[in-house]
Amino acid sequence: NNSKARELSALHEEAAKLYHHILMNTQMGQPALDYLHQRGMSDEMINEFNLGYAPSQRLLKPVFDERKVDYQVLRKTGLFSETQDAQLIDRFVDRIMYPIRDASGATIAFSGRLLTSNPDLPKYLNSPETEIFNKGRVLFNLDKAKLAVRENRQVILFEGFMDVITAYSAGIKNGIASMGTSLTDDQVYDIKRIAQQVIISYDGDHPGQKATKRAIDIFKQVPILTLGIVQVPDGKDPDEYIKSAGGPAFQELLNSAQPVVEYQLRLLKQDENMHSESGQAEYIKQALGLIATINSPIDQELYLNRLGTETKISKEILRSQLQQMAKSTP
Ligand code: UTP
Ligand code: MN
Ligand code: MN
Ligand code: MN
Ligand code: MN
Repeated sequence: NNSKARELSALHEEAAKLYHHILMNTQMGQPALDYLHQRGMSDEMINEFNLGYAPSQRLLKPVFDERKVDYQVLRKTGLFSETQDAQLIDRFVDRIMYPIRDASGATIAFSGRLLTSNPDLPKYLNSPETEIFNKGRVLFNLDKAKLAVRENRQVILFEGFMDVITAYSAGIKNGIASMGTSLTDDQVYDIKRIAQQVIISYDGDHPGQKATKRAIDIFKQVPILTLGIVQVPDGKDPDEYIKSAGGPAFQELLNSAQPVVEYQLRLLKQDENMHSESGQAEYIKQALGLIATINSPIDQELYLNRLGTETKISKEILRSQLQQMAKSTP
């Protein structure tokens, strides 16, 4: 119910304030603040995204106990883990805290990042599912991005929080991210409500490319949205790319985002040995299969032309092969 949700969210907002205070104003928070500064994060962005630090010592429990917040309510926040004898202890310990807000701007969860990697612990620890937090529904920064999306109805989908924040600091404010999980139908639905065009700009590494393929499949079920794909060079993620090449260079990548078919054709080509005839033949077959799925006859014609030029196979042969494929697929 609504007042229950408000209560849980109010506790999150209080927690976010505490975490932020620890980060910005205390000795305990200094290593975390240095870490963020070293990564090129400005105080302006730390404030804008209300980043914080969960210290090694207990923080939230004593504060909420002091205020006599009900035990059952505290349990439901997800901000605590439970010991075997049902004691609540702060879930987030020694982590940089990223508040997660819903589309209306209410803080509903956290993701906490380790300062130094530890093979025994997850790099990012997320809040558990609660009455107000459903991981598959939330899009990080959607509340802020909504305002920016109004201008050109374009949304940029990133993989990570850092990508969103670094892009934001470079003036690219229409970025959002899902929470490390693959995209859900609910999220696509929410994106569709505000945007006409989605640019997928996941990490340039192998997992990022795999996630891009999955996202394309999910978006394909929503033909209203125009999709563009960005492949960040050198296996970098957008955060790293913006920091090394600059915001304008990344904006260039966005401007030249590839249409899905083009992106997929490029991937097909990468997969085949184009120096061998069998590799070329396989590429042509796969490419025609892809072109066969294009709904617009104009686009189909364009890509057929392109494939002809590229492979030096006459368009008539490609077309007859395409028609045969169309016949054999019901
Ligand atoms: P990445 O490993 O690409 O992290 O995971 P990142 O965003 O580049 O973060 P930095 O630069 O190392 O700080 C992408 C996203 O996957 C989720 C997070 O949402 C992260 O932003 N993730 C990753 C988790 O939920 N848990 C993890 O242990 C790792
Ligand atoms: Mn510093
Ligand atoms: Mn990644
Ligand atoms: Mn990164
Ligand atoms: Mn990354």
